[in-house]
Amino acid sequence: MKDPIKGFSKLSKEAKLEWLVNNNFDDPEAAREVFTTYWHSDPALQGKHDEFIENTVSNYYMPLGVAPNFQINGKLYTLPMAIEESSVVAAAAKSAGYWLERGGFTATVLSTEKIGHVHFMYEGDASALFSQFDRLKVELLRTTAPLTANMEARGGGIVDVVLKDKTESLAHYYQLETTFETCDSMGANFINSCLEEMAKGLTRFVENEPALDASKLEVVMRILSNYTPRCIVRAEVSCSVEELASEGVSGEEFARKFKRAIDIANVEPYRATTHNKGIMNGIDAVIIATGNDFRAVEAACHTYASKSGQYRSLTHCTVENGQFRYWIEIPLSLGVVGGLTKLHPLVVKALELLNKPNAEELMGIVAVSGLAQNFAALRALVTTGIQKGHMKMHLMNILNQLEATPEEKKHITAYFQDKVPHHREVVNYFCELRGVPVPNAKA
Ligand code: HMG
Repeated sequence: MKDPIKGFSKLSKEAKLEWLVNNNFDDPEAAREVFTTYWHSDPALQGKHDEFIENTVSNYYMPLGVAPNFQINGKLYTLPMAIEESSVVAAAAKSAGYWLERGGFTATVLSTEKIGHVHFMYEGDASALFSQFDRLKVELLRTTAPLTANMEARGGGIVDVVLKDKTESLAHYYQLETTFETCDSMGANFINSCLEEMAKGLTRFVENEPALDASKLEVVMRILSNYTPRCIVRAEVSCSVEELASEGVSGEEFARKFKRAIDIANVEPYRATTHNKGIMNGIDAVIIATGNDFRAVEAACHTYASKSGQYRSLTHCTVENGQFRYWIEIPLSLGVVGGLTKLHPLVVKALELLNKPNAEELMGIVAVSGLAQNFAALRALVTTGIQKGHMKMHLMNILNQLEATPEEKKHITAYFQDKVPHHREVVNYFCELRGVPVPNAKA
């Protein structure tokens, strides 16, 4: 057990690193070397990274890949994807090319409203809150007016405020539920600032309303919800069933098995979790590359996947009258201003690569990325199996682990060109090539 340290946050980055390596690693010198190797040579750029978060000691690199040939609403895009997992970018690119030949993707934003709450308890008779709510609402909008002026000028602001009685779920629990339009921003700071003002307005109102008792009011929290079921985008593709024929499988057989795969994800949460994880491969990668909050999006999508009361597939499919239709519908609260969007040079470039989309266009692009990813995974799963393509892409990681030379990599890649490179077989072949004994399985 290491000794705790007081005042760590006040130390310089160098002093933090010294404490870290000297107190946590058997070889401080080697640890220091690894952490500092990842410092950027440009001190100004490194300074920006240092200040993105707290207690920064190094940078954590993630590969940024690109997937070309995405046709969305008739426009061609190259998607930036930041992700550590092999085969995701290749799968996205493969799906993009596949659907480019079949009319491309369509994306439609169905709604853009976000929601936040003042969660409060009222231990008395709350009927006056409801009967006087129109007055309270005017007061709440008056109190937030200075905060909403700029957003209103952009076409957004507060859409509505309602008072909700939640006492059936929890004794004395009520909410002010507020709906916002936040235009091109994700809007978290704007929403939370408005809610904090609203809570003050609520408290003042209760203090001044004779039928209410301020001592019975407790404002518990004022916070946006990351669940955004009124900020929904739909992405879809369609083609004739015949056009799905490929890799020795007829269009009918492919469509039937593909639909079955989605049916299974709809009834079996074990499968739905993996199915949706594959979708998030595509979504998170674009979200991270464009500087958005993937935790918020993950949370929202998984709640949405459970909206029927059971966790289900986020993608859907019909095969009717010889037509294959396949779509995803998800909540996506994204921003193209604020947050990291102007601060991280690679995020700036990722948004430039996408032709500086507005928030709605980005919602469409991200949804398409999720759909494309799911298509690639299901296509592999219902035909060749996932390991063939995934391991082909993962082969380089195995060879790097084995510290293969460029010559060995070339040779081994060629050898596995038409075989599934299972880990053990790669190790065996590598050892055979080098003329060294095969390590036992535990090594
Ligand atoms: P393939 O047919 O062997 O590849 O597919 P190919 O060499 O014939 O190339 C076809 C196209 O794929 C290329 O076109 C590229 O677009 C792309 P081209 O550029 O030649 O005109 N492509 C590549 N792009 C960049 N770098 C590469 C590369 N190779 C191919 N090196 C592939 C291979 C992996 C694409 C295919 O097998 C596939 O899509 N598999 C699915 C992989 C997948 O879903 N991976 C996600 C990780 S697994 C997981 O986490 C989720 C999962 O569990 C979810 C679920 O269960 O639902 C699967």
